[in-house]
Amino acid sequence: MIPDDVVEEVRARADIVDVIGEFVELKKAGREFKANCPFHEERTPSFYVVPDKGFYKCFGCAKSGDVFSFVMEKTGLDFVEAVKHVAGRSGVEVREVKRDNPEEDPHRPLYELNAFARDWFGQQLVDENEGRVAREYLEGRGIDADTAERFGLGWAPDEWRALRDAAAKHGIGDALMEEAGLLSRSERSPEPYDKFRGRIIFPIEAMSGKVVAFGGRILADRSDAPKYLNSPETPIYHKGQLLYGLRWARHAIRLDDCVLVVEGYMDLVALAAHGFENVVATLGTALTEEHARLVSRYTKRVLLLFDSDAAGLKATFRAGDTLLEASLHPAVVTLPPGEDPDTLVRTKGADTLRGHLDDAVDVLDRKLQILDERAYFDSIERTRSAVDRLLPTLRAAADPTLRDIYVKKVADRTGVRRETLEAELARAGPAVPRPRHDTGRAPRAASSARLPRMGAERALLQILLRAPEFFDRAMERVGPGDFVDPVYRAIFEALLDEPELRAPTPSMDETTAARLHELLDDDEEIAHAGRAFDDTVSRVRVAALDRRLQDIDRRIADAVGEDTKRELTEEKLRLSRERRELAPDDWTTTARRLKDDPNNNDGNR
Ligand code: UTP
Ligand code: MN
Repeated sequence: MIPDDVVEEVRARADIVDVIGEFVELKKAGREFKANCPFHEERTPSFYVVPDKGFYKCFGCAKSGDVFSFVMEKTGLDFVEAVKHVAGRSGVEVREVKRDNPEEDPHRPLYELNAFARDWFGQQLVDENEGRVAREYLEGRGIDADTAERFGLGWAPDEWRALRDAAAKHGIGDALMEEAGLLSRSERSPEPYDKFRGRIIFPIEAMSGKVVAFGGRILADRSDAPKYLNSPETPIYHKGQLLYGLRWARHAIRLDDCVLVVEGYMDLVALAAHGFENVVATLGTALTEEHARLVSRYTKRVLLLFDSDAAGLKATFRAGDTLLEASLHPAVVTLPPGEDPDTLVRTKGADTLRGHLDDAVDVLDRKLQILDERAYFDSIERTRSAVDRLLPTLRAAADPTLRDIYVKKVADRTGVRRETLEAELARAGPAVPRPRHDTGRAPRAASSARLPRMGAERALLQILLRAPEFFDRAMERVGPGDFVDPVYRAIFEALLDEPELRAPTPSMDETTAARLHELLDDDEEIAHAGRAFDDTVSRVRVAALDRRLQDIDRRIADAVGEDTKRELTEEKLRLSRERRELAPDDWTTTARRLKDDPNNNDGNR
């Protein structure tokens, strides 16, 4: 059984919109979401999800319930399985336990301490006297009480051991406080002391809603202390894997199909106070692959709102390349010099910021603009070095269509022939990222443009399992029916339900689960993710078209009526045309040519 408190925790942490949104397409309606009811036939939506209250209700068929009953009803899972399903999606670990022998999450004390600290900081902020200066500071920066509450903002009093003393009263010792990064030590003082003193506190939540770290801003700009202090990395906090604000922003990101990435806590909170909900912040670290992967679950369009100074530009382009590698489409928002999103929205208003967002420029275009402004295209030598600066971005573009567009743009702007650029690019292309459960073995040498030796269906699944960012494009081009092998088809269908599938689902049969494990354990390197993806998708699709064409030929031969014959022939023409477009000549020849001549890019363009 699952203990009641765990069930309650899963319910509290669950994102009911996320869970139900997996099954039905939800549209935002005020603070609620609506959809055509999944439990009865209807054309106008009467099915509502109320995230604040954690329930759904259909006004047509009167079905209603919570996140667990929805999953049970929709999938036929039993209660325990439904709780596990929901827990899995919200990052809560559930172990079935016997009541007398609770298996503890080893990090539970850290989470509990952080929850305690968040509450305590929050109380200090609303305390009549203690929090007055901090509240005035926030008001001065346009953060009202509602916004502060929404982000759980707090205040760390300007004292050496206020939090430590409060924690001690609750039986929380120094060792745990130090592990959580809430206490510091210095050589001069024998007693550890509060890390955050005299600072506005920003709790940092993981996607599960648990507080994993804190950020603190000093009240006034003082030269003797850093403006922001952040928790150190701890067993539960890894900066590169977490985006500040994503938990709050994810619905808005999905609805707007766009995310704004800013650098700081204050930018994010200020934007939220002005109605921009689809915002995340990187908190002073470079944007990582993991960040890109997190974002790609919700949208492909990313607007970068970093500082426009030199350091900011550098960060922007580095982030741009990382996003391109994850098949996302980054664009750059340029704010007036000296402004950041917070100052801009506060002094000039939401509409001015919106204008800047509308003027966002694709990351490669922005790079070209800047090189142009710096007279990089005025001489041959400078152009040569401009190309060198542009190549990493071309190389980063994992989306083959975008990459084609980019190559053309650079060719047009620099006068370098496309073929030459392609050859440069082929020299060292990106490889599919290693699977996350890295075995530590050295990757096998990646030969360029090598078509995987395994069958196309297997190869395609392999790529999708390692690089889920390809999933949407796969879905546009192939369906489950295109898979001949029923086991691979089942895995593809499971991916349709959960593009980030990393383990068998409860409903999966043994053969499928075993094959999935085998795929996940296979660590053969696949060179050129984008190209390998295109090849395998086309091969799967071409094979499916061939089967359908054969079937149609048989039916044409058997057909009696002229009408039927004509319809079948038209269908045959349509399918042949699609097939020809996918594979101009026979696949085996194309494959061989690619294999024999790795630098030959004509084969698949
Ligand atoms: P900025 O210096 O741009 O600050 O740092 P900001 O966000 O505009 O802050 P305000 O408006 O003055 O309050 C951007 C981010 O870099 C990290 C923080 O995460 C900050 O939000 N940072 C900055 C630090 O970690 N430490 C610092 O001392 C400064
Ligand atoms: Mn600022």
